[in-house]
Amino acid sequence: MTTDSGAILDLGFDERLSQVRASIEKRLDELLPVSGNERDLVALAMRESTLAPGKRMRPILLLLIADGLGHQGSAALDLGCAVELIHAASLVLDDMPCMDNASLRRGRPTVHLKFGEDVAILTAVALLSRAFGIIAGINDVSPAVRTQLVELAANAVGMQGLVRGQFQDLRDGQQARSAEDIAMTNNLKTGVLFGAIVDMAWLISDGDESARATLQSFAMELGQAFQMYDDLCDSSADTGKDMGKDAGKSTFVSIYGEDKVRAQLHVHLSNAESNLRRVFDDADLIAGFMALVFKKAAIAA
Ligand code: IPE
Ligand code: IPE
Ligand code: MG
Ligand code: MG
Ligand code: MG
Repeated sequence: MTTDSGAILDLGFDERLSQVRASIEKRLDELLPVSGNERDLVALAMRESTLAPGKRMRPILLLLIADGLGHQGSAALDLGCAVELIHAASLVLDDMPCMDNASLRRGRPTVHLKFGEDVAILTAVALLSRAFGIIAGINDVSPAVRTQLVELAANAVGMQGLVRGQFQDLRDGQQARSAEDIAMTNNLKTGVLFGAIVDMAWLISDGDESARATLQSFAMELGQAFQMYDDLCDSSADTGKDMGKDAGKSTFVSIYGEDKVRAQLHVHLSNAESNLRRVFDDADLIAGFMALVFKKAAIAA
């Protein structure tokens, strides 16, 4: 848990993680619009899609890294929640019939199936707008830092990040792609948001310049590992998502096969952890959380 001063209490691993999670769930609930009635579909869809059980990987990492860098205050929690809203918006759009055409997300029907495509589009726009509003409203940082935080989020969403990555994935993924092209697309659609998280954590804390660069390397390695893990899990039945959505798409799994991708995933993951340990004397909590997220890869390795 973060205390009033923002420091994570000295508790055991499970307890610390569940308190961080609980603080995120509570704040997300507060930051989302209250739905006035059952016809207020966009507000309902914003709440349901975001509050559905996700791993909360991005806000958890943001909070733990900021804490490790000495951050005190509430900015990390709000930033983490804003990034989670951006992530939720990206999932709503990613699932739409014109994109991956998915029916299941986080174990529930996708937003367009439950509420309609019109509501899904509006929900994604509303989640993104809310995220930017939250970041612009963070008041315990200087105006200069606040502006940089907004810029970081904008770049992570737009043509230097998610949007370009998703476009490349949808269009180029239908043809054969080189490994370099796949890595570049995965970096844009998945890695850049991790990059934004670590930069945000660094900006609101007191880390030195070298820590910033090392954390960026951590984020890029993590992004590659994470998309590989997601692609490997496409054939699993227990993800809360449709199985086999990547059929016919060029991914590392389709060009290299599962075993080679699993080996590469472990290289990226161990590079990520080395970078982390270069920044923090004690990175056990963050590394332990990553091990939880990548649990199935560890079993299969
Ligand atoms: C899924 O992200 C989309 C990718 C970038 C691969 P997550 O696996 O973090 O999804 P949730 O938030 O846990 O549902
Ligand atoms: C892209 O990857 C996810 C986003 C960046 C939104 P996928 O399309 O493989 O993600 P899932 O498997 O649907 O979560
Ligand atoms: Mg997709
Ligand atoms: Mg998808
Ligand atoms: Mg996937």
